[in-house]
Amino acid sequence: MKERNRTLSEKKIEQNINFFDHWAKTYDKNLFQFWMRRFYRPALKIIDGGKILDVSCGTGEFLRELAKKKKNLIYGIDLSPQMIAQARQKLGRQINLQKADVHILPFPENSFDYVVSTESFHHYYNQYKALAEMKRVAKKGGKVIVVDINFFLPPIHWLFEMLEPGCVKINSRKEIKNIFQKLGLGDIVQRRSFIFSVLTMGVKK
Ligand SMILES: C[S@@+](CC[C@H](N)C(=O)[O-])C[C@H]1O[C@@H](n2cnc3c(N)ncnc32)[C@H](O)[C@@H]1O
Repeated sequence: MKERNRTLSEKKIEQNINFFDHWAKTYDKNLFQFWMRRFYRPALKIIDGGKILDVSCGTGEFLRELAKKKKNLIYGIDLSPQMIAQARQKLGRQINLQKADVHILPFPENSFDYVVSTESFHHYYNQYKALAEMKRVAKKGGKVIVVDINFFLPPIHWLFEMLEPGCVKINSRKEIKNIFQKLGLGDIVQRRSFIFSVLTMGVKK
């Protein structure tokens, strides 16, 4: 009874924290990062400086790449305390890191030139609200970028949703574009980033 009364958000938060806390120490293993780097590389190429927020930064690999460009002012948040701990160990104090939920971002509106989320959107329990928060903290004219998995075929998405703990929904290109459009993000572009991932970018008008 108790289990049934728990909301989807509570369930997904708990599953995601458990899953990623457990994975944090081995997340940077070479073979896995070989793939992840290819997924987020197109986003790195787009970001040309300014104040940047990496939402669901994980162990901070994307942030580490961003930090190589000196003109960047960088922030990262993640739901999993252990992921944040790994990122902090790796990045030191040069980057502002904190534990937070994408649905309630701890920043004022109009704060960032780029707000980016890589390979995490399918874990968000309310994807519309999550993207709305990302848009809220972006500056006017700022860019919101989501890179997320996309395996071409709905049955594979369904299988992934069943099997990966904390997974909520994997979107088709059209579905994710719809969320961007509903939120009034403009100049939307989409492209495949490597094989199993799609990048969607919109501008806050
Ligand atoms: C597959 S990892 C991706 C990490 C990193 N962005 C990358 O590209 O390697 C997904 C991340 O999403 C985080 N996450 C899941 N739900 C979240 C939420 N509601 N708010 C913030 N982060 C969340 C997890 O803790 C995890 O670190």
